[in-house]
Amino acid sequence: MLKVNHLYKSYETGDKSYDVLRDVCFEVKEGEFVAVMGPSGSGKTTLLNCISCFIPYNKGEITLRDVRLSSLDEKDIAKVRNEKLGFVFQDFMLLDGLTVLENVCVPKVIRREAYGQMEKKAKALMNMFGIWDIAGKYPPEISGGQKQRTAVARALMNDPLLILADEPTGNLDSRASEAVIGAFLEAQKTLNTTTFMVTHDSFSASWCDRVIIMRDGRVYTELINRGSRKIFLEELLNVLKVLNGGE
Ligand SMILES: Nc1ncnc2c1ncn2[C@@H]1O[C@H](COP(=O)(O)OP(=O)(O)OP(=O)(O)O)[C@@H](O)[C@H]1O
Ligand SMILES: [Mg+2]
Repeated sequence: MLKVNHLYKSYETGDKSYDVLRDVCFEVKEGEFVAVMGPSGSGKTTLLNCISCFIPYNKGEITLRDVRLSSLDEKDIAKVRNEKLGFVFQDFMLLDGLTVLENVCVPKVIRREAYGQMEKKAKALMNMFGIWDIAGKYPPEISGGQKQRTAVARALMNDPLLILADEPTGNLDSRASEAVIGAFLEAQKTLNTTTFMVTHDSFSASWCDRVIIMRDGRVYTELINRGSRKIFLEELLNVLKVLNGGE
């Protein structure tokens, strides 16, 4: 479903070129929940931004269901971003002047769909994530965990091929984080949603099927969850300890 093939990305500052992604390769299968971890500056957000079509890459290829992202023009990119991808950000990015329900409906409003249809869809998602009872509230009146579950519902409104999330639990306490990860897991179970999530939080990552660990712009290793979340968490913590120790 998502293939990243020998991806290279560098930033030019002044007359210097700085290689941020160097030969990154991996795949994400349909219905998989995959996390990306790694030290600060290892290139996680850059990788996510390339997949999001926010920034161009230098070499290699990203394909989303057989569509090569480098082959798209600006119009096609806007279409992919609205129809094929769903986004969840660390700081929620909700519109404070709209209710929770209206925020969830935004992607459909952009596509000018009929109101009745979009409300039905929004209600189903909001019920699934336990936020239907706050449908009429405004973002400043709800908790961080509720805000992020609203953002996950919004990201799912157009039935995206892939959800991209950059530190979705970064601003949340552990209880709220669990509720947000729970929303991703529920979407995976009932809608077969594919999610690709950057996180610093090993506990959140331990719920995923697989964790890709980045180091210095490369894939350092991949860990697979073989069924026991507790064992997976221990494995993750061990690898990260070695990484942070510089071994
Ligand atoms: N627009 C930019 N121009 C120049 N350099 C950049 C730019 N964006 C990021 N970088 C550099 O690229 C490297 C990777 O940055 P990136 O944001 O991808 O790291 P990250 O793994 O997401 O880190 P963090 O865990 O702190 O969020 C860093 O050294 C950063 O300073
Ligand atoms: Mg980052």
